[in-house]
Amino acid sequence: MIRKCLFPVAGYGTRFLPATKSMPKEMLPIVNKPLVQYGVEEAIEAGLKQIALVTGRGKRAIADHFDISYELEHQIAGSGKEKYLSSIRKVLNEGTFMMTRQREMKGLGHAILTGESLIGNEAFGVVLSDDLCLNPNDDGVLKQMVKLYNQFRCSIVAIQEVPMEEIHKYGVIAGDDMGNGLFRVSDMVEKPDADKAPSNLAVIGRYVLTPDIFDIIRETPPGKNNEIQLTDALLTQAKAGCVLAYKFRGKRFDCGSVPGFIEATNYVYENVYDEDVH
Ligand code: UTP
Repeated sequence: MIRKCLFPVAGYGTRFLPATKSMPKEMLPIVNKPLVQYGVEEAIEAGLKQIALVTGRGKRAIADHFDISYELEHQIAGSGKEKYLSSIRKVLNEGTFMMTRQREMKGLGHAILTGESLIGNEAFGVVLSDDLCLNPNDDGVLKQMVKLYNQFRCSIVAIQEVPMEEIHKYGVIAGDDMGNGLFRVSDMVEKPDADKAPSNLAVIGRYVLTPDIFDIIRETPPGKNNEIQLTDALLTQAKAGCVLAYKFRGKRFDCGSVPGFIEATNYVYENVYDEDVH
């Protein structure tokens, strides 16, 4: 059974400067809730209640968010405003939180390797919280992937079709179509030019990884942009054994970019946000 979910939250968030100069981008709110809380709620829904955060300098607000604020609790206890704390209280009641720091931003692969001490030798989920995934009234994306892991017992990456003019922003897979939205990965390239992309199937920020990935990352040299790329490690894993790619059910918003963030805000305000339920 998968119990843990890793959140690499150490990145600089340069695309949101100056907002992210002294505030983590993962704390930017979509309507009234920080991005990282949406991710944690999705993990808990999938049964992954041990939350492992790989943070960095300037990210203390994330640690504080997943803790009690005594002054605030005391101030609003018994008042009509208590309801505003209900969603974060639920998260704190159900989840446990562990943290470590990535001292140098050497890429997503490196961030995940930094989390090894929190994960140990077991399969785990990974959420990049700047990808907001929503599937109201049905299983969340991570829950769909955990069900598949229980069936296939190998690493799984979430994919979606993207227009070719945007493919250079993503890790891209090639694979054998197994039906039901599942592909067995045969190739994987990080941020290719459109003419070199093996397909239009882009990897987005949800993964289930088997723990052999840590040894593979240790052996993976820096790749694109001189960063240690998870994509490169996953290709090694795919060649040695099996990695599946899964076209999930639901919507995904790239909240690491300004247009995606605005689109998510409008969608949540119109379809998800309820003034009386927080
Ligand atoms: P991104 O490259 O999208 O995030 O990394 P970023 O670097 O924060 O954003 P920009 O491009 O400067 O605006 C994808 C995810 O991996 C994490 C980031 O926090 C983000 O969730 N990450 C990336 C790390 O934790 N450590 C790294 O060294 C790199």
